[in-house]
Amino acid sequence: MSETILVTGGAGYIGSHACIELLEAGYKVVVVDNLCNSKSDSLSRVEELTGKDIQFHLADLCNADAMDLLFRQEKIDAVIHFAGLKAVGESTEIPLTYYQNNIGGTANLLESMNKRGVRNIVFSSSCTVYGAPKTLPLREDFPLQAMNPYGQTKLTIENMLKDLAASDPDWNISILRYFNPVGAHASGQIGEDPLGIPCNLMPFITKVAVGELAELSVWGGDYDTPDGTCIRDYIHVVDLAKGHINALKKLDDKPGLMIHNLGTGQGYSVLDVIKGFERATGKTISYRIAGRRAGDAPAVYADPILSERELAWKAELGIETMCRDAWNWQSKNPGGY
Ligand code: UD1
Repeated sequence: MSETILVTGGAGYIGSHACIELLEAGYKVVVVDNLCNSKSDSLSRVEELTGKDIQFHLADLCNADAMDLLFRQEKIDAVIHFAGLKAVGESTEIPLTYYQNNIGGTANLLESMNKRGVRNIVFSSSCTVYGAPKTLPLREDFPLQAMNPYGQTKLTIENMLKDLAASDPDWNISILRYFNPVGAHASGQIGEDPLGIPCNLMPFITKVAVGELAELSVWGGDYDTPDGTCIRDYIHVVDLAKGHINALKKLDDKPGLMIHNLGTGQGYSVLDVIKGFERATGKTISYRIAGRRAGDAPAVYADPILSERELAWKAELGIETMCRDAWNWQSKNPGGY
């Protein structure tokens, strides 16, 4: 009998891509999502693409009774926990909502798991927990520092998970620190569908390409980097989704707590991404160099060696594929889902 995985936030951008990989790897998938920042159409499309069913629960992790009920109704073997609010700027305006939703929701989830004896979890953390890097590439044992309430919630959840693992050896926990996920499934049927004007680079570029936004502002051209613009480790969302399967499999070895970067190890500047997008799609992106965005680090990229060694996982798709797939999704779905 195949294992059943509960995917929290499974209707979202990364969650829906993880659902495809799980179904294709032979797992059964149960999704819980409150749809506050996603649409259930993503799951219908995953079902169409894979020819397999997803059991969907419309519920909020902040509702402890709903979570208990879900774990009584479904027989869950492991959890992949994506659900959470993720906009850095917004988190500085409504920090309490971020703390309640991300930390409170996770605490409820872990309580419900504990009650039912489900003790395998993969958690979606972020490279934001490294704060402003002093040395690169970023290794998992580097010092951690939150720079904003969003980052604080990721760091706090990491600490909760560490405490939990230390308190009970039955827990097996994988913390995955994502770098900058971009791109979309090769089918162009699922992808990133941000509400309103995107804050992140790639969805902004695709909206300029589709004609919905006039021009990209490049936040800062005077950084101490080769072309003056910030450097990030962009990773194809399908590579990222696959990393979760490797992490899940590794939990069967009962590793206790493990922490891994999911990045390519390769940094690209904002101008590199614009040029890569233009090469991959034949579209021209209007942009202008604007002032720096508060809180941006000049360069961030992963040391991916530990994931390669311990999870047998390595990102395979390059920047042009990331751009081509992001555009394929956007051009087939100009208004999103
Ligand atoms: C952001 C979050 C990070 C989160 C990640 C998720 C911040 C400070 N950090 O990372 O915590 O985990 O998203 O993907 O928000 N850029 C422009 N013009 C734009 C948009 C972005 O020039 O309109 C530049 C940024 O200055 C940055 C790069 O593009 O150098 C990437 O930005 P973005 O996609 O927002 O990701 P991060 O800021 O790296």
